[in-house]
Amino acid sequence: MRLSVIDHPLVAHKLTALRDRTTDSPTFRRLADELVTLLAYEATRDVAVEPHPVTTPVAPTTGVRIRSPKPIVVPILRAGLGMLDGMVRLLPTAEVGFLGLLRDETTLQAKTYANRLPDDLSGRHCFVLDPMLATGGTLVASITYLLERGARDVTAICLLAAPEGLEVVRQAFDAHAQVTVVTAAVDERLDENGYIVPGLGDAGDRLYGVV
Ligand code: URA
Repeated sequence: MRLSVIDHPLVAHKLTALRDRTTDSPTFRRLADELVTLLAYEATRDVAVEPHPVTTPVAPTTGVRIRSPKPIVVPILRAGLGMLDGMVRLLPTAEVGFLGLLRDETTLQAKTYANRLPDDLSGRHCFVLDPMLATGGTLVASITYLLERGARDVTAICLLAAPEGLEVVRQAFDAHAQVTVVTAAVDERLDENGYIVPGLGDAGDRLYGVV
């Protein structure tokens, strides 16, 4: 597993505003959207391209275009939906699939409750969107699901990560050079309820309210 922590003043500035308990939901959604676009710029660094001829107003030349099969973006329901627009803004030709996993609050284990993805992901580069890498259970379950269906590369984009969760993902995919986690920061720890400290609270609630 590869880890990329994006060290950039704009990323740190937006993350600080996201952490602020007084930031309201509309502002939180906008900031999350902007932050994902910045993370996505780094996360797509290895996206596969192929040569593509183009004629400028001056002369023909050869550029590149994103290679088929198209990348697939997989927001993890529900909080990952808050990252979708920011991601597809950078990768408008990507396909979008959905995976619904939620954390059982007593066992802290991930359970699947929805899936809208092709059965065959052979050769695909999958971008998993999940704002909080906390215990790592949801991310390990999601990445396993995608690799079992043939995904070539899986890049997880998380706004924040806990060291405990990163270790779980690292142990699960130690041998997989094609698994990458991109995040804005690695925080101190998890608390006894599985929340990231200092974190930003419950990302789903802050995006969409408590339902
Ligand atoms: N999920 C969240 O939304 N926040 C945390 O801190 C941990 C998991």
